[in-house]
Amino acid sequence: MGKVKLWIDGQEVEVAEGTTVLKAAEELGIFIPTLCFHPLLRPSGNCRICAVEIEGYRGLPASCSTPVEEGMVVRTNTDRVKEFRQETLKAILMDHPRECIACPKNQSCELQELIAYVGIEIPYKAPTEKRFEVKDGGPFFRRDYNLCVRCGRCVRMCNEVRGVGAIVFKEVEGRQEVGTPLDRPLEEVGCQFCAACVDVCPTGALMEKLPRWRAEAKAREDSFCPEISDIVLSLYDRYREREYKSSICPYCGVGCRLIFEVQDGEIIRTRPDPTGPANNGLSCVKGRFGIAEFVHSPDRLKTPLMRKNGSLEEVSWDEALDAVAKQLSKYKPEEVAVISSAKCTNEENYVIQKLARAVLKTNSVDHCARL
Ligand code: SF4
Ligand code: SF4
Ligand code: SF4
Ligand code: FES
Repeated sequence: MGKVKLWIDGQEVEVAEGTTVLKAAEELGIFIPTLCFHPLLRPSGNCRICAVEIEGYRGLPASCSTPVEEGMVVRTNTDRVKEFRQETLKAILMDHPRECIACPKNQSCELQELIAYVGIEIPYKAPTEKRFEVKDGGPFFRRDYNLCVRCGRCVRMCNEVRGVGAIVFKEVEGRQEVGTPLDRPLEEVGCQFCAACVDVCPTGALMEKLPRWRAEAKAREDSFCPEISDIVLSLYDRYREREYKSSICPYCGVGCRLIFEVQDGEIIRTRPDPTGPANNGLSCVKGRFGIAEFVHSPDRLKTPLMRKNGSLEEVSWDEALDAVAKQLSKYKPEEVAVISSAKCTNEENYVIQKLARAVLKTNSVDHCARL
């Protein structure tokens, strides 16, 4: 692929043909604000927040969807560009509620950061539109489209990347709104509850529900004063220490890398790690929502059990392994078969087939995913 040379804010840069102006600016360390753009999605160029001036171009093109050209001269931060971004963002926010303090995304909201960077005044004009009812997002998340800025990231994620098409843009009372085909519940339109849409939403419109134990605590607070329980909870959360650890999902052999959010030694949330080579910032419902309750479940077996005198008793690993080895030694190789599990890692499955072939001397080895 050929190289293209251009100038951005007076700096020269050479990038591969087909690179966008936004990406070329990034290579120079020049920040251009964005809203509808997301690195996992194809650029749609619909919000215009990333507008820049390009010599010889009419208007202010969207840098996220404009490919570089030889000799291009780009300016990313002129007064004209700044004013355009401010006016555009004000228009986008025209019907956005002014209730950040009670929003579950407060202080971790991409939209708040964008508002601060673009430098518009808040409070802006109060929304006059009526409030829409908060919708359920199945068992795992909730959808408050009052907070939606119609960036389209969720719809593109569900269609382009997940290939599901459970959510679409549709016209509701003359406005473009995100919804499901025929307004069906997500469970009925093929949603996989992967939460990829939630993870790319820049606002609090799509949010995961609280884990069960925190939802119970919140319900108790709600019974005293529902109006302020969100505020109390978000203030409480902000001052509690939290650790973020990256590790591999234990549920299956795909090997998705997840970020584990840990508070007081307990996993409270998992999110797909954008640096994971096997999953590239995505995961399935099990990795996204199934880990905390599974790891902390009181029913989880942590010690081997052996049947003794008709009932299961906890024993040490040495005792359990000795008992298994003793039993297996009674059989000839052709009498033994080994079945492994899709929940094991590749390395574990490799070791199990080694045990079968090298120790038990059998080639009768299989895997539950083929059943
Ligand atoms: S959870 Fe996944 S499948 Fe369901 S709407 Fe969101 S992106 Fe689509
Ligand atoms: S729900 Fe979120 S991601 Fe989807 S269009 Fe609205 S703001 Fe964008
Ligand atoms: S269970 Fe889901 S998230 Fe976990 S490794 Fe398998 S595909 Fe990835
Ligand atoms: S971020 Fe480029 S048009 Fe929205």
